[in-house]
Amino acid sequence: MKTEPEKSVLSSTPISPQKLCGHRGVAAQAPENTLASIARVRELGLSWVEVDVQLTQDGIPVVFHDQTLSRCTNGEGALKDTSLSDLQTLDAGSHFSADFCQQQVPTLAAVLAQAHHDDLHLNLEIKTYADTDIAALCDAVFDCLSASPLDERQVLISSFSLDALRYCRDQRPSLARAILWEAIPDNWQDYRDLATYSIHCHYRALTQAQAQAVKAAGLALQCYTPNDPQEAAPLWEWGVDMMITDAPERYLSAD
Ligand code: G3P
Ligand code: MG
Repeated sequence: MKTEPEKSVLSSTPISPQKLCGHRGVAAQAPENTLASIARVRELGLSWVEVDVQLTQDGIPVVFHDQTLSRCTNGEGALKDTSLSDLQTLDAGSHFSADFCQQQVPTLAAVLAQAHHDDLHLNLEIKTYADTDIAALCDAVFDCLSASPLDERQVLISSFSLDALRYCRDQRPSLARAILWEAIPDNWQDYRDLATYSIHCHYRALTQAQAQAVKAAGLALQCYTPNDPQEAAPLWEWGVDMMITDAPERYLSAD
């Protein structure tokens, strides 16, 4: 007799939207890191969104993930070599679907305004590459936050760059900070002062012992980017507080 695999009870339990953070907006439903993608977050009932921030050639913070333009726009070359005015001539939506051909790479200022409008909490990833001027990027982000109507207490700065987090700690200590790791290193407590709020790691790299240690240290724990609720199910049991996911809608209703 053919037997079906047993369905996990946990995987079919709806998860509260308060425990989900949209990754790059809701990247499974709209082009990543665009205003359309961010709009989906509140439409799904979530209150947290993660986006990536970098600088244009002329020093304007924009929400964009890659070093180069080709994957997510109809342009070419490096973001850091492109002015904001040139960037805003590009189509940042058609790579996902023709329905989104009007989407542009948004400025951080526009994203903050939308987060304020939608009353979202923003996980703002300071995205650095080898040639990133970390001080210039962080300073531009701070200026943008100061000019924004979004309450700073609704912003969480996250980064894989420990130097960026150190800069934030020293220059804008009031901003909440999260360390991003792929796998949490054994000596993670050496960096404890760089995280004021949470530790984030890849969902496949976390161990139960690490989860316990992070929670025992008084920090929140978040995992990126599980898009299958069944894969995420054991992590809730380990105490993970939030999943950063491209597909939050899959968690919101029982299968
Ligand atoms: O914040 C988690 C996640 O965004 C980190 O990786 O490459 O998607 O920015 P990435
Ligand atoms: Mg990111």
